[in-house]
Amino acid sequence: MGAGIAQVSVQAGHQTVGRETSEELGERGRATIERYLTRGVEKGRLTQDECDAALGRLTLTTDLDDLADCDLVIEAVLEELDLKRDVFAELDRITQPDAVLATNTSALSVSEIAETTSHPGRVVGMHFFNPAPVLPLVEIVRTQQSADDAVDAAYAWAESAGKQPVRCNDTPGFIVNRILIPLLNDCVRVLDEADVRPEDMDKAMTNGAGWPMGPCALIDLIGIDVHVHASEALHGKLGEPRMAAPERLVRMQQEGKLGRKSGAGFYTY
Ligand SMILES: NC(=O)c1ccc[n+]([C@@H]2O[C@H](COP(=O)([O-])OP(=O)(O)OC[C@H]3O[C@@H](n4cnc5c(N)ncnc54)[C@H](O)[C@@H]3O)[C@@H](O)[C@H]2O)c1
Repeated sequence: MGAGIAQVSVQAGHQTVGRETSEELGERGRATIERYLTRGVEKGRLTQDECDAALGRLTLTTDLDDLADCDLVIEAVLEELDLKRDVFAELDRITQPDAVLATNTSALSVSEIAETTSHPGRVVGMHFFNPAPVLPLVEIVRTQQSADDAVDAAYAWAESAGKQPVRCNDTPGFIVNRILIPLLNDCVRVLDEADVRPEDMDKAMTNGAGWPMGPCALIDLIGIDVHVHASEALHGKLGEPRMAAPERLVRMQQEGKLGRKSGAGFYTY
């Protein structure tokens, strides 16, 4: 997600600092962006000059201190509350007091992430969808403490980057995941209940319900680990049994079948 969001930012014309935990991972992120932009040139979606200019706006670092002058920071580290809280405490110390600090969390509480900062008013959620350069929606999440200026700035940034932002409060799962996570979990349970193959489930939902992509392919794209995490977070907050991660997904995660990113999930890649 970090690379995808960085791509959105450089394509929107912003000088962008991409921070990874190692130089190797940073370079991998840059290579991903380069690959997508080059494919865009081949397909005539942008010119070679635009591609070069976009790549030229990206600087890589492993040091969080290099984000000191950023007006907007969009965090996309692992979906773990303690990790995000630590990162926000650091960002709060490092950045200018009027910088907007946004989290791309899928299902954690933005308010709980903001608690470790001394300026929680400038913390908002900016929830992109995967792949970030392709999917237009960005949920702009407001906590009870978010300042109007910060929410408006995040909304305006997303809109100027060609996205379709929508505002919502900091409730579990926000809009799409609150609805989609239990629904995807239902689909996985039906695989076992009705003895359906993943490819047939996807065939059923694309042809019968008009979904643009089948649920198994979608979970593979999201990442089994990310989806299990999000299910646990939603279940923990709202308690509906449908929100709990199905046994089958937990098993896949334990086996390292994390979907597309690991080369195997419901499908092999
Ligand atoms: N995958 C999706 O479909 C999706 C969609 C929307 C939002 N999100 C959210 O985006 C965030 C990242 O998800 P992802 O799918 O890109 O996960 P990922 O596992 O692909 O990437 C996690 C990132 O966190 C970094 N990281 C790991 N340990 C770290 C540490 N100690 N300090 C700082 N960074 C560390 C990794 O280097 C990597 O860049 C999560 O909050 C997730 O909920 C994911």
